[in-house]
Amino acid sequence: MPFTPDVELDLLFPADQIPIDVRKQLPAELHIRPLASTDYRRNHLSVLSVLTVVTDPGESAWRAQFETLRATPRTYYSIVIVDKASDRIVAVGTVFIEHKFLRGLGCVGHIEDIAVDKSQQGKKLGLRIIHALTGISENSGCYKTILNCSDSNIPFYEKCGFQKKENEMAKYA
Ligand code: ACO
Repeated sequence: MPFTPDVELDLLFPADQIPIDVRKQLPAELHIRPLASTDYRRNHLSVLSVLTVVTDPGESAWRAQFETLRATPRTYYSIVIVDKASDRIVAVGTVFIEHKFLRGLGCVGHIEDIAVDKSQQGKKLGLRIIHALTGISENSGCYKTILNCSDSNIPFYEKCGFQKKENEMAKYA
């Protein structure tokens, strides 16, 4: 499939919210942009499946979920890195902006669902995704950006500038 430029896509949020310095650090054959309404066809779920179990809901349900995220502006920022040669997604990540009543109506960025296709791991794409999401969070006015991860991923997030703090609690339904 030929590479689809941003102007031909229906994006989740304006592309200029992705920090320019992260764009410049990517190799020429890769492109970073917001998630697009047609990304179901560009490998989105199979890249996510390197992270955890992904059940394919079908394209129309995927598209409905995309519209749910977009219906709440300034909140859901999902980004992708695309391999221009194939027009396929090779890395994904999201930051969710939580709007609080404390800290003078402050907000917090929650980084979620970071995944790099196995064939592209170890090439700094995870680092670029985290820097882009942290930039979006900070430019949104968040006083902190947080995430949960396994012990084995702690060194990766430390390389991205994060520090271990407190504990995660979970209750599955
Ligand atoms: N242990 C130690 N160091 C690591 C690890 C690790 N598990 N992963 C990466 N690093 C280091 C790299 O060596 C590199 O160090 P350097 O700058 O000294 O060379 C630095 O971290 C940056 O690594 P990247 O090349 O950017 O890592 P990559 O593109 O492979 O992305 C990621 C890392 C996202 C963990 C990827 O391997 C992946 O998708 N794994 C499977 C899914 C997953 O675990 N996702 C994260 C879940 S947590 C969440 O979503 C909030």
